[in-house]
Parts: sequence; C-alpha cells; structure tokens
Amino acid sequence: MSLTSLPPSLIATLPGDTYTDAAFFAREQQHLFERMWFCAVRADELDKPGRFRTVQVGRESVLVTRSRDGSVRAFLNICRHRGARLCTQESGEVKRNFQCPYHAWTYGLDGKLVAAPNLTSMPDIDRGTYGLISVHVREWLGHVWVCLAEEPPSFEEEVAGAVAERLGDREAIDHYGIDGLQVGRRVTYDVRANWKLIIENFMECYHCATIHPELTEVLPEFADGLAAQYYVGHGAEFSEEAKGFTVDGSEGLDRIPGVTEEQDRRYYAITVRPQVFVNLVPDHVIFHRMYPMAADRTMVECDWLYLPDVVAGGKDVERSVELFHRVNQQDFDACERTQLGMGSRGYAAGGVLVPSEHHIGEFHTWLQTRLAKEEAAG
Ligand code: FES
Ligand SMILES: [Fe+2]
Repeated sequence: MSLTSLPPSLIATLPGDTYTDAAFFAREQQHLFERMWFCAVRADELDKPGRFRTVQVGRESVLVTRSRDGSVRAFLNICRHRGARLCTQESGEVKRNFQCPYHAWTYGLDGKLVAAPNLTSMPDIDRGTYGLISVHVREWLGHVWVCLAEEPPSFEEEVAGAVAERLGDREAIDHYGIDGLQVGRRVTYDVRANWKLIIENFMECYHCATIHPELTEVLPEFADGLAAQYYVGHGAEFSEEAKGFTVDGSEGLDRIPGVTEEQDRRYYAITVRPQVFVNLVPDHVIFHRMYPMAADRTMVECDWLYLPDVVAGGKDVERSVELFHRVNQQDFDACERTQLGMGSRGYAAGGVLVPSEHHIGEFHTWLQTRLAKEEAAG
C-alpha cells in the first residue's frame, strides 16, 4: 500500500533509513546534539573541585568538572598540543590539574595551560589561548547542561520552555525540588536502537497495555493507550489500590515536601529534546539522559532521585526502582526489536502513527525543520 494515500486515522512516520543511516546520524550529531542544550551530568557528581565526568555529545567527548571557585566548567576533551584525548576515564578526580599523558601539557581546572615541558623556553605562548576549549554550561534541575554551539539557543525557551509546555506551568516542576534530591540508584542501559525510537516510544502509551503489566496496574489509564505526554498538564492518576509508585503497588516513601495535593498520587512525564526524559511521582523523580553513540546505539543513563534522608538513611527504594527498571527494560527491548526492522525494504517508506500517537508526528516535523534550519544556517 502506498503511504501517500493514508486514511485520516493514520499519519506517516519517518522513513526507515533515518534510523539506520550513518550519514543521517552524522547530520543529527552536527546539527542537533552539537547545537542544542544537552544534559551532560548530574551536578552533585561533581561534588568537589577536580571531580570530573566525560560524556559523548554529538561527535565530541566533553570533559565536565568543577573548578576551584566552585563553578562547573566544561571543555572539549582534547589536548591543545597534538590532539590527544585528555581524559579517557568516564569519571574520576584530579588533584589540581588535568595532565595530558602524551607530552604532559598540564591544564588547570579552569582550563588554562599551566605547565608544559620547556614552556619557559617558549615565552610567546599565551596560556589562555592554548588552554582547553570551553563549552557553554548551565545548571538547572540539579543537572549540568552543555552546549557546543558558539551561540547557544535560548535555554529558557528550549529547555525550561519544554518543561513548562508539557506541565502547562513553569513552576510545577519546582515543587519536586530536583536539585535537592540525590541519586538513590543509577542504571545505565546500552540500547541497540536509534535515539529517535527511544524518544518516540517514550512519547506514546499505545504499547503500554501490551508490554507494561506492572505500570498499567499502578496507572490504569495507561492501559487505554494515551500517554501523559498526549496532554498538557496532565498527570496520570494512580489506581485506587496502589499505595505508591512501586512494582507491586506497595507503599512508597514520604512525599517530597513541595509536591502539591494536586500533584499527589499522579505521574507526570516530560521529554526535553533532544535527549532527556523526566518522570515525576510524589516521592521520587526518574531522570533519563540519552547519549546517542551511533545510528543504532544509544546509551541511556537513568537515575532514581530521592530525598536526601531516604538515600542517607538507607531506606528501601527497591520496589520503586524495580517498577521503572522493568518499564525501561520492556521499552528498550521493544526499541531494539524495532531497530531490527528499520533497515528492511518493508520499512523503506516508513510506517504509520495511529491517533494516540499523532503527537509523535510533531517530533518528526520538529526534527526535519530543525535539521533544515541548522543546515541552511551552516
Ligand atoms: S598531545 Fe597532549 S601533550 Fe602532546
Ligand atoms: Fe513504555
């Protein structure tokens, strides 16, 4: 059947090769991940000067650290001498400096070149000019967001705006006090699927009745196929039987103090393009960061965030972690299964979106428009 003559119930998806083609992925890296605000790390991982993380942002490795004055800094993870990767570890801590293991050029935590063999015999070298290359940094929701563009887009519009748009209210997310929460559990998933499949999956709940038995038990309206993201400002209500957002509906933890009556016993979900999902429930927050690595591979770091006394007190978070861990596994299995079909001749023209998935079409329009716009801008 030709997809050009779709009945009104259906709209077309992107064609299959946009999920498999290395050249298309390279365009996304260059024009999306390297141009937009990208959520790099949780800020409290950098809890003292010299602690660092390295993350993949588009085609670049980015080094994020905390400098001596307490501010977060981010740099391209490359030595200015002959280009060696500066830090090969994913995370770690240096005392005072980053030293390149090749010829020992040494950079301060603020990125300045502080030492190099025979540097005194090269008095014409400016230590700032030959320091690490900085990238833009913002902190919000307890996370460090970086932007590799020379002129970053408006953080307010693109990041805070996306959250406000979904929740229907700019302040609604502040009630969860995400920057004051702590990581109770982190699971990193190596997903053999294109990043867009993961976003699309997260945006819809047409699959919920089929693959998420535990989730639909707690959130019965999800069995009807409409995701929280189908609406604006809508939180999916817990079932009457569910005491908490846990794998067996058992009691959760204490409600986060700022969470309102209206937000209590509800689940809200937000996608911040291009790579963040935030899930809000009264007693914890589940925060996903995607790191697209290749057309068919995405690393997903998922944090379960709880009140500090829950983490410090060693309270049992197992049943709340288990619920969304299962959801993640069920979702990523579905994404991997879908990735297998993307290269098929049967999907060359793409597939279709049913009405409860039509809002995914907006994501596709956004993607194509953004790519075209960025490419036109060079
Ligand atoms: S490449 Fe880093 S010091 Fe030479
Ligand atoms: Fe799902």
